[in-house]
Amino acid sequence: MEDTKKLNTSKLGTKEYWDDFYELETNNFKENPEDTGECWFADNDAEDKMIEFLIDNTGEYRVSSDSSMIDLGTGNGHLLFQLYEEGFHGRMVGVDYSAKSAEFAAQILQSKYPEATNLFFEASDIFSTNWNPGQFDVVLDKGTLDAIALSGIVGENGQSIVQLYPKVVEKLLTKDSIFLITSCNFTQDELIQIIESEHLRVWKTIEYPVFEFGGVKGASICSVAFVKK
Ligand SMILES: C[S@@+](CC[C@H](N)C(=O)[O-])C[C@H]1O[C@@H](n2cnc3c(N)ncnc32)[C@H](O)[C@@H]1O
Repeated sequence: MEDTKKLNTSKLGTKEYWDDFYELETNNFKENPEDTGECWFADNDAEDKMIEFLIDNTGEYRVSSDSSMIDLGTGNGHLLFQLYEEGFHGRMVGVDYSAKSAEFAAQILQSKYPEATNLFFEASDIFSTNWNPGQFDVVLDKGTLDAIALSGIVGENGQSIVQLYPKVVEKLLTKDSIFLITSCNFTQDELIQIIESEHLRVWKTIEYPVFEFGGVKGASICSVAFVKK
């Protein structure tokens, strides 16, 4: 199997890129309050599928309409706002290392969901050792590990940032918590290889249309749910 820890770096792996990106989205929103920004993987219906997954699995493990949730690399907070609209009303936190993202999501919250006192957005780097937001019933990632992998950052102990990521996720989970992640950069097998450990087991996966090219079959995107044992 390909070594998934060695990926090409790209500007999508830099904080500067995301700061500029959310500054632009904030300006667009100021001009047109209906423009709440990009929804990653919308072509694949990934966001709808993740929400549908949580609705279908309500009552399993710690998934309920009152589940506390955290969205890692929340961007414009779209996933959390949609979950809120679908009736998930537990404490929901969106975290992003771009302060512009947190400010933008907070502006959307204030203008479109002023009644949603259960939603919070904060600017933090999830790899910071000072970042300890507590534990959650559901941890979400849509496209964030993909962006993180493109940074090419290597930790003090020589481990790649992709290898450090599961430890960040594990500290946010308690027994029977769920981690639901969607990626376009890693295959389903690679995601499982990166994330799964003795304490974090694969639970279910989400089906996407499969393409076939040159005799090779695959999906362009994958979502995997893990459960903390
Ligand atoms: C591809 S975007 C996905 C945004 C959002 N999840 C969505 O689906 O629209 C990746 C996000 O991860 C954030 N990010 C990257 N590295 C991060 C880190 N170390 N800590 C927190 N957020 C990070 C970026 O600022 C960006 O908002």
